[in-house]
Amino acid sequence: MEISNLKLLNYRNYETLNLTFSPTTNIIYGKNGAGKTNIIEAIYVLALTKTFRLGNDDVVIKKGKNIAKIEGLVKTNIWNTYKIIISDQGKHIKIDNNKISKLSDYITKINVIIFHPDDLKIIKDTPMTRRKLLNIEISGINKEYVIYLNNYEKILKQRNAYLKALKENKFSNSDFLNILTEKLVEIGLKIVHIREEFVKSINQYISEYYTKITHKGVLSLNFKSEYKNKTPNQILNMYQKNISREIIMGKTLFGPQHDDIEFIIDNEPVKEFSSVGEQKNSVISFKLAEIAYIKANLNHNPILILDDLFSELDEEKVNNILNLIDTNLQTFITTTTINTVNSSMLKNAKIFHVINGKVKEEVNNGK
Ligand SMILES: Nc1ncnc2c1ncn2[C@@H]1O[C@H](COP(=O)(O)OP(=O)(O)O)[C@@H](O)[C@H]1O
Ligand SMILES: [Mg+2]
Repeated sequence: MEISNLKLLNYRNYETLNLTFSPTTNIIYGKNGAGKTNIIEAIYVLALTKTFRLGNDDVVIKKGKNIAKIEGLVKTNIWNTYKIIISDQGKHIKIDNNKISKLSDYITKINVIIFHPDDLKIIKDTPMTRRKLLNIEISGINKEYVIYLNNYEKILKQRNAYLKALKENKFSNSDFLNILTEKLVEIGLKIVHIREEFVKSINQYISEYYTKITHKGVLSLNFKSEYKNKTPNQILNMYQKNISREIIMGKTLFGPQHDDIEFIIDNEPVKEFSSVGEQKNSVISFKLAEIAYIKANLNHNPILILDDLFSELDEEKVNNILNLIDTNLQTFITTTTINTVNSSMLKNAKIFHVINGKVKEEVNNGK
């Protein structure tokens, strides 16, 4: 998978930008605040329609403008032009000028794996952050999952509203609640099974990477869910038994909206027992395992983005990671100092220097 050209209009600090990338390594360097992350963010948004940073979708529109465009020429099996237009009216997406109305048809096309400094902190973060990560990663590879998630959220909202209404004595009959519960369990179980399978697949690779990085310890993921190892009937019983509590609380008390993944090293949860370094290595191993999973299951390489990793990890560690990654991957590296990138990475790289929202392609003298 490869992006060869990126065009931006009114995106963050770029009024216009037109870049042609190398199919191998692309190094984007410049001072803090220059606009490096904005470029790789645009590639990410082009793939997934959403930013990995905080804020609504329209925060990416250049201040003072009302519409932003991202266009990219991307090779999946074939070359296509992908386009996203963002305004306060929402998002419009197109492939080769054909409007795409179903998100699930779009976001599974371009696979991007990003290593971002904030990701390194997910192990200590709330379960919601890890669930979000799980959702983003699976949504990029599984069409049905996107649809199930969407439906589940709708039914959960409806069910919560109905429980609230029962609490306020607006209805006395709970027949409709039973229908909603059955639907919730049916779709919820589909989501849980897909998550479980995904974690299982990641577990086939993750420990190997962890050992290669640290030379000690066995890392694995434990998928946690209130639905796990239960039949539909057992789950329905769980709701049945707790129905009065749910009505008192006015909300759904169980389900995949509480799922979590736990990182385990040598049978101990990383969250509680490990150093910051071990936590970072665990997340890096997770991402590397994902690349291996995509390669093995989708038969292509994802596009790889390493955003400002040198700010969080020492040079040796980053180069260690780079050495574990297949050189066939198209890779984007942002950094404040080009000297930190090792010479074998630099050799065939295209180099872009970002100065205050202007990008200059530099001649690579191979050093
Ligand atoms: N919507 C926006 N409109 C204009 N400028 C923006 C917008 N969002 C962010 N910026 C600017 O982008 C710059 C940060 O760019 P970024 O790519 O994060 O820098 P870095 O090179 O450190 O990765 C800042 O100067 C910020 O003010
Ligand atoms: Mg940055």
